[in-house]
Amino acid sequence: MSLIEPNAPSNTVVEMNQIVLPQHTNALGTAFGGTIMSWVDICAALCAQRHCRRAVVTASMDQLDFVMPVRQGQMVNLRGMVNFVGRTSMEVGVRVEAEDMLTGLRVHAASAYLTFVALDGEGKPCAVRALAPETGLEKQRCEEAQARRQQRLDLAAQRKRIAARHAP
Ligand SMILES: CC(C)(COP(=O)(O)OP(=O)(O)OC[C@H]1O[C@@H](n2cnc3c(N)ncnc32)[C@H](O)[C@@H]1OP(=O)(O)O)[C@@H](O)C(=O)NCCC(=O)NCCS
Repeated sequence: MSLIEPNAPSNTVVEMNQIVLPQHTNALGTAFGGTIMSWVDICAALCAQRHCRRAVVTASMDQLDFVMPVRQGQMVNLRGMVNFVGRTSMEVGVRVEAEDMLTGLRVHAASAYLTFVALDGEGKPCAVRALAPETGLEKQRCEEAQARRQQRLDLAAQRKRIAARHAP
């Protein structure tokens, strides 16, 4: 395995399944948003590591919309893939689906985009190999991710300016 050659997004796919147990639920019997978020974070981190084979940290998670509640006893399927690679950062998209184990009905429950940064042995951001989208869909995801990256960095800079204004 070469860590210099560009890598196809399909090599970064990670699929994870979880069952929603009582300790994952709120008083309504549906999964805590934070629990789903932590599973999304883990799935996405593994995708990023599959690409760079380095330690990674989560730099940001974009808006996470919960479109359907996930109930106790359901299986949660998470599927992630690296969409775009910068110099040291990688955008990963994760789709979450919930499957009712009695009926087999499967619904889209949530989706999110996360950015990870690869770290060297001293904990500093380090360059990662390029991504080589192959299919039309992978190329489209890559272009869309590039636009999101710009918006994300603009927003981060704006937040930094606001935080500096409110600093004691
Ligand atoms: C993420 C982190 C390493 C970035 O450090 P930094 O000093 O800003 O590093 P740089 O300016 O060199 O940026 C490194 C990369 O991060 C990206 N980045 C920085 N802030 C970002 C943000 N808020 N959202 C998305 N990407 C971001 C930069 O665009 C750059 O990407 P590129 O190399 O592909 O162009 C640093 O902020 C950090 O350690 N944060 C804490 C991470 C953490 O604890 N996560 C939770 C637990 S894993």
